Amino acid sequence: METTITAGVLGAGVMGAGIAQVLATAGLEVHCHDVSHDALAAARELIDTGRFGVRSAVERGKLTAVEADEALDRVSFTERPEDLHRCDLVIEAIPERLDLKIAAFRALDRHCRPETILATNSSGFPVSAIAAATDRPDRVVGWHWASPAPVMRFAEIVRGPSTSDETVETVSALARRAGKNPIVVEDTAMAWGYVANRVYAAMIREARRVADEGIATREEIDQLMVDCFRWPAGPFGMTRGATSGWS
Ligand SMILES: NC(=O)c1ccc[n+]([C@@H]2O[C@H](COP(=O)([O-])OP(=O)(O)OC[C@H]3O[C@@H](n4cnc5c(N)ncnc54)[C@H](O)[C@@H]3O)[C@@H](O)[C@H]2O)c1
Repeated sequence: METTITAGVLGAGVMGAGIAQVLATAGLEVHCHDVSHDALAAARELIDTGRFGVRSAVERGKLTAVEADEALDRVSFTERPEDLHRCDLVIEAIPERLDLKIAAFRALDRHCRPETILATNSSGFPVSAIAAATDRPDRVVGWHWASPAPVMRFAEIVRGPSTSDETVETVSALARRAGKNPIVVEDTAMAWGYVANRVYAAMIREARRVADEGIATREEIDQLMVDCFRWPAGPFGMTRGATSGWS
């Protein structure tokens, strides 16, 4: 039997809600915390009846109705940051600002149990910079998810210079348990974006240049890329979808 792991999710926005749903569906107890009451209410809605929520998973035959109810019951939506402090793992999904992340990790490090693993869903800040805000750099790791989290298998596990093998293994095993396909990559202090977003950003830059040069419209570029490479969306559509949660 798999052990019950308690996970905290810091930030209940587009990504935090999806991450909480995935972890709860994998059998974890999840405390989802946000500073915004409205964000917590929206996250609950997204997980329940959202386009990629548990009800739609039932309709698509991915979960039974009972499993969907149980997954939702395993998530608590809380305005109390202290509810994260006894978790085995906390995944941070607050906005992509290094100052906010550093402050959040400093607070988590101060209050969480010493053995708690702290993971960031940053899209590309060096894990070393975030880990430096803590006294547990060996237990700080990047776990970069893709949107929509309940659907995408992507799990970019970013090993900081001080991240321990045990932390990498624990998080990778959890990602596999949640149906993801973890790939461990090295941290970089040189450029934002780890692997996936560096390559993606290069593609977006080129797509914008093509549009700016008047060679094709944004809609035409999107359609060409979908038709040529069987991508689910073109570069501009991907950017829109990721920021809106594909609603
Ligand atoms: N949207 C995407 O496609 C995507 C994909 C992968 C990674 N990411 C990364 O995930 C992170 C979150 O992105 P998002 O799109 O979910 O953002 P979002 O704006 O939808 O959600 C962020 C949430 O964090 C809350 N928040 C802010 N400060 C907080 C604090 N100190 N404590 C608790 N809650 C706080 C906000 O109220 C908000 O609800 C970012 O680092 C982003 O780069 C985003």
